[in-house]
Amino acid sequence: MIENPSYESSNRVSTSDDIEVGTYLEIAQADRISGSKPPIDDRMKTIVIIDFGSQYSRLIARRIREANTYCEIVAHDAGSEILESQDVIGVIFSGGPNSVYEEGAPMAPTWVYDSGVPILGICYGMQLLAHQLGGVVARGTEREYGHAVVHKDGSDNVLFEGLDNEAPVWMSHGDRIEELPPGFRSMAYTENSPLAVMGNEDGSYFGIQFHPEVVHTPQGSEILKNFVFGVCNAPGDWTPANFVSDAVERIKERVGDGKVICALSGGVDSTVAAALIHRAIGDRLTCIFVDNGLMRKGEAERVQNVFASQLGVNLIFVDGTERFLSALEGVTDPEVKRKNIGREFISIFEEVANEIGEVDYLAQGTLYPDVIESVSADSKASHKIKTHHNVGGLPERMDLKLVEPLRYMFKDEVRLAGTELGLSQQSVNRQPFPGPGLAIRIMGEVTYEKLEILREVDWIVIDEIKNDHLYDKLWQSFAVLTNTQTVGVMGDQRTYQYVVSIRAVTSADAMTADWARLPYDTLARISNRIVNEVDEVNRVVLDITSKPPGTIEWE
Ligand code: XMP
Repeated sequence: MIENPSYESSNRVSTSDDIEVGTYLEIAQADRISGSKPPIDDRMKTIVIIDFGSQYSRLIARRIREANTYCEIVAHDAGSEILESQDVIGVIFSGGPNSVYEEGAPMAPTWVYDSGVPILGICYGMQLLAHQLGGVVARGTEREYGHAVVHKDGSDNVLFEGLDNEAPVWMSHGDRIEELPPGFRSMAYTENSPLAVMGNEDGSYFGIQFHPEVVHTPQGSEILKNFVFGVCNAPGDWTPANFVSDAVERIKERVGDGKVICALSGGVDSTVAAALIHRAIGDRLTCIFVDNGLMRKGEAERVQNVFASQLGVNLIFVDGTERFLSALEGVTDPEVKRKNIGREFISIFEEVANEIGEVDYLAQGTLYPDVIESVSADSKASHKIKTHHNVGGLPERMDLKLVEPLRYMFKDEVRLAGTELGLSQQSVNRQPFPGPGLAIRIMGEVTYEKLEILREVDWIVIDEIKNDHLYDKLWQSFAVLTNTQTVGVMGDQRTYQYVVSIRAVTSADAMTADWARLPYDTLARISNRIVNEVDEVNRVVLDITSKPPGTIEWE
């Protein structure tokens, strides 16, 4: 069995399976070019999550979206623009690492209180609400961390509607509320927090000391739903059908009579982005698929088939195999490989786009987690581990404006949108595949012969993983061709052939990953088939490294 306690298979929200999913820098560039958000006609009923630096802010957003309600995360020092761009029906203050009484602790902006919408404060957010509205917050005698049991206090309790009187919850705080702000009452308590939940008399402001967004608070989603529906009166209409029609309207509005080009990678994000744009503007979209020769077996044909035959999209197919291979000749350094592939891609893409003639927009499959990442202060501090091969830089060079139809969606919403658009499950449930393709799974120099070997091996791995119904449970599963050869024996013959490694990981977002505990029988079949069916390989090993310290890809 595959075991990984931290893995939520339904929550594959992130990241970069497409060449066009940008890095921090690229998104920042994109933001500069596209300006702020595109103008919106139909404002959406929106819950705004104010981020005070909690690691769980995204999780709050996921839970709200799961309740079919649109939400956005904004930084704690953001201005009030969101009140104009969306119909804000409620605000949630996230948790955060600070103490509200510390010098320089982030405060909630006044526009939130002035707007008159309901507020729910979570952990630090609750303490902030208390602090800013005249209550007293102080360091508790004991830190409360981990499981606790919350007891309902009093009967009139909209947040606990339909819940048990006692519920297990997850706590993580050192400070606590000593005195409620005027007009507030206690709604629940735990052993260590006499004021674990509070609410004001008119039922518009609430605070929760525990974390309803984490799985360790089993009824937490219900509490959030009670806020979203019972307090904010959300319509609950953020459904796949609606977010598709909403995205189509936004694209129409943004693009007008303009022409759009879109680089396809074969991944979910660019596929769904292109399908959405096609629905909005039809033939004014041209997709470009550059076959870099580094794809998996059958992949280039599959992409052509989906777009040209199934979707009827204008598709320009470029076979760039030779150009990419000569750009990789003699190259063994992983970063140089990535850079050369990126450079070649951009120059081919530019040439093709110039041939098309008048084009106004470039489509990118940027997802909401990438947008959040780009506004998060933390991401600035991160080290660059790998250069991602993306189309970043293209819009500036070619003087194109951006259209990013997935900018407000999480990965699983993108998959749902894809299904809604009629794409096959095979297209929408694909495991991520890196832009530089098999080049970063071939150690040492990349040659056509090695690519052919790896394509065969990779095909067997995926085939067996699918046969055993493991494909959807894994973040990624693939093979790596090492540049080591070992001695073996086949029949009575000595062999001296390549070693391949199997890499299979579970992950929620590719930021961290665990090596998958694949069943021995699956591994045995994979190993047998590879050695029997691929002459150039005589040994199969298994990569049992998590991320960190390893990365998912080998290069
Ligand atoms: P690592 O190897 O950094 O990979 O743990 C994390 C995720 O990103 C994918 N990946 C890429 N995706 N361009 C992409 O679009 C790239 O250059 C690239 N490199 C890695 C990788 O497959 C994994 O899902």
